[in-house]
Amino acid sequence: MVPSVTAGGVAERESLVHAASLEKLRESGRLVTAVAGHTVALFLDGDDVRAVDNRCPHMGFPLHRGTCGDGILTCHWHHARFDLETGGTFDPWADDLRTFPVEVADGEIFIDPRPRHDVEAHQRRRLRDGLERDLPLVLAKGVLVVDTREALRIGIEFGTTFRRDGWGRGLTILACMANLLPMLEAEDVPRATYHALAAVAEESAAEPARFALRPLPESQAPAETLARWFRRFVEVRDADGAERCIVSAVRASASKEELARMLFAAATDHRYLEGGHVLDFTNKALEALDAAGWDLAETALGSLARGLSEAERMEESNAWRHPVDLIEILEGAFAELSAALAGPRQPWDGRSRLVDLVLGDDPAAIASALVEALRNGASEVDVASAVTLAAALRIARFPTSNEFGDWDTALHTFTFANAVEQGLRRAPSPELVRGVFDAAMSVYLDRFLNVPATRLPAGEAGAVLDDFAPLLDRQQQVDEAGALVASYVRDGGHYAPLQATLAHLLLREDRNFHTIQSIEAAFRQVERLGDGDDATLMLIAAARYLAAHAPTARAENQTFEIARRLHRGERIYEE
Ligand code: FES
Repeated sequence: MVPSVTAGGVAERESLVHAASLEKLRESGRLVTAVAGHTVALFLDGDDVRAVDNRCPHMGFPLHRGTCGDGILTCHWHHARFDLETGGTFDPWADDLRTFPVEVADGEIFIDPRPRHDVEAHQRRRLRDGLERDLPLVLAKGVLVVDTREALRIGIEFGTTFRRDGWGRGLTILACMANLLPMLEAEDVPRATYHALAAVAEESAAEPARFALRPLPESQAPAETLARWFRRFVEVRDADGAERCIVSAVRASASKEELARMLFAAATDHRYLEGGHVLDFTNKALEALDAAGWDLAETALGSLARGLSEAERMEESNAWRHPVDLIEILEGAFAELSAALAGPRQPWDGRSRLVDLVLGDDPAAIASALVEALRNGASEVDVASAVTLAAALRIARFPTSNEFGDWDTALHTFTFANAVEQGLRRAPSPELVRGVFDAAMSVYLDRFLNVPATRLPAGEAGAVLDDFAPLLDRQQQVDEAGALVASYVRDGGHYAPLQATLAHLLLREDRNFHTIQSIEAAFRQVERLGDGDDATLMLIAAARYLAAHAPTARAENQTFEIARRLHRGERIYEE
């Protein structure tokens, strides 16, 4: 029997290109041929001729070497299976196989090589597949095609919809990556986006779904009423009530500042919630919306309610109660806040003195100094910035004789302090100023991490950016990395290429939540501080933290590089 028009959809006659003779295909049942720049595998499937892209969509194995039977083509590398007629896969990690419409006439096979799919639309769907099934390679392939902002939006929508516990580390990594994007070399942009989505997928894998609450029906409640109710519900750990308030406020068109104040007030009604993570996540959710679009606010901000309501409050912790009752000190300071903030804000020159005090060992004096600075007209941001610098100094002076896990302690304080400062820049409020005091108390509690304090590096001549990568191929080059930053800056090196280099080195490592946070917060600080010693210190702290946590196995970057090579049409499979 002579086959006629067969697989792969309807061919348009004027687009048909000759591929092979039917007789030749019959000799072996399969053939490889080049058609219009494509390497095409032809198969005889019973009486039908099938034409498919010879590169397996998974990792490029030549499919003419696969097994064909009962209408199913099986790749011989990782055993992905495809419906030979449509190209649809039975293994979602592999992707559907491209097929070509075929026509047979007068014993000759013709195929239509024109693209039939919208490649970007297909990869958008694949990003969702990758998020649902936690498939890093699929995500890496997707971000190389899909617009970066669109990819981030897909990640935010997925993470805030499908994880019962709501906003967590995965989405926070996504927000950090979004903030880093403008500082990256172009080729690192999809790499960062891949890490962002892979972190969300990893955290959501096997988690129960979140069923978001709808806003109050046609509520006319003003934003301040919803904010008051919100804080009241968080106070009694009622996550549902709190979520309904926040989504109602979004639906009622509360401004970005009103929403931020509402969230930050609840996040500072108790002390240093969940080791600082709650306020940091809140700030990151707001920053993610800045990057990806505030039309995602209802789901994104609603996803914060559970974390806020269930967080551990440091009033309940021993360290904040004994041997010194920090809560009592803080409550005394808070009672003075409204008077201290009553006057006009004005230029203030007490930054260095305040930083030294915050790094000291007298919590009552620290709290008094903060109140005093505000009373003297320092802005909320000025005071917050001084505390953030003190927190960064804990990392910059962290001796490697400490226990390794203590890096995390110093990091928590620094990222919390940075989040409070960023929040105050966004939407200042007396409530959020309490966060500055919490951060200062945490810097005080971390004082044992600087005993003995490592000396800040002075820098030597001759450092170049190319020195960083080999340095971070070796373990525990902490002091060397800090010294390299100091030397590079001393030699007149600019921050932007240094930041791009450090970010590149971060992205080549396997994801470590705290390392990502440290780099992102330090870069955010540099953005605010401009040139100068304080900005350099932030980069010294970031480089030291990164060096303490490098090298990793770099398996995640290898997955990204495989996707990149496939995207460029390079071969992964070699004989
Ligand atoms: S299954 Fe085909 S290359 Fe992996």
